[in-house]
Amino acid sequence: MRIAVIGGTGLIGSQVVTNLNAAGHEAVPHSQSTGVDIISGRGVDEAMAGADVVVNVTNSPTFDEASLAFFRTSMDNLLAAAHKGGVGHFVILSIVGVDQVPELDYYRAKTLQEQILAAGPVPYSIVRATQFMDFMDTVLSWTADDDTVRLPATPIQPIASKDVARAVAEVAVGDPVNGIHTIAGPEVFPLDELGRITLAHKGDNRTVVTDPTAGMFAVVKGDVLTDRNAHLAPTRYTDWLS
Ligand SMILES: NC(=O)c1ccc[n+]([C@@H]2O[C@H](COP(=O)([O-])OP(=O)(O)OC[C@H]3O[C@@H](n4cnc5c(N)ncnc54)[C@H](OP(=O)(O)O)[C@@H]3O)[C@@H](O)[C@H]2O)c1
Repeated sequence: MRIAVIGGTGLIGSQVVTNLNAAGHEAVPHSQSTGVDIISGRGVDEAMAGADVVVNVTNSPTFDEASLAFFRTSMDNLLAAAHKGGVGHFVILSIVGVDQVPELDYYRAKTLQEQILAAGPVPYSIVRATQFMDFMDTVLSWTADDDTVRLPATPIQPIASKDVARAVAEVAVGDPVNGIHTIAGPEVFPLDELGRITLAHKGDNRTVVTDPTAGMFAVVKGDVLTDRNAHLAPTRYTDWLS
């Protein structure tokens, strides 16, 4: 199969390209660095030409309100080109629980991305994943100072990016599900506990203070970011850290 991987130079996209090519497919990465801009539309028609499948694993440069315009414009441009080019399957990567946290601009933007895809003219699959293990350092940095890291006890089910990429590649070469395929890590941790495990592993002596008001995940109510019925990935967090 010929697969256009939009965002194919990013954390997930680069691994999706590698997996697909290793499986004998022809996966081509596209991004601004290869001359494709999904906002202006530059190079998008050419990227779709001859593609059986499009995998869109791009990301917005910001997580704020501007992310809504990013996902709206990019999906409009990509879907129009995919339809014109006769693409038979359009895959995006979204987030478990994304439609249950409207307080977060970025989650509303990703929900909008899902809605535009589902309402569009191309058969599709939405892969929803839990938080990437690779994202944990960023989460800790948001609320850290010299002595402490403040984190809420929000339940998180971290997944390794390599497991995400494997699942996205498998979905891409399967039939469109015209719905959601959910993947998650094998274990659930309160975020503050995950912070303690992470700092201990790094030999970082800062203290994790449980603070229900700290950081982006403070607005998340209950365990909406976890899914124990998802397809569970194999990699455990402590093994990944090692
Ligand atoms: N972090 C998490 O825990 C998590 C959980 C579930 C789902 N997700 C989703 O996973 C997806 C992929 O994330 P990631 O971490 O792999 O992203 P990433 O590493 O930041 O990669 C983003 C890719 O998008 C490309 N891109 C950005 N703007 C573009 C534009 N205007 N035109 C063309 N390409 C553009 C980038 O390349 P250039 O800069 O060269 O253009 C890059 O290849 C995101 O949609 C995110 O919502 C994330």
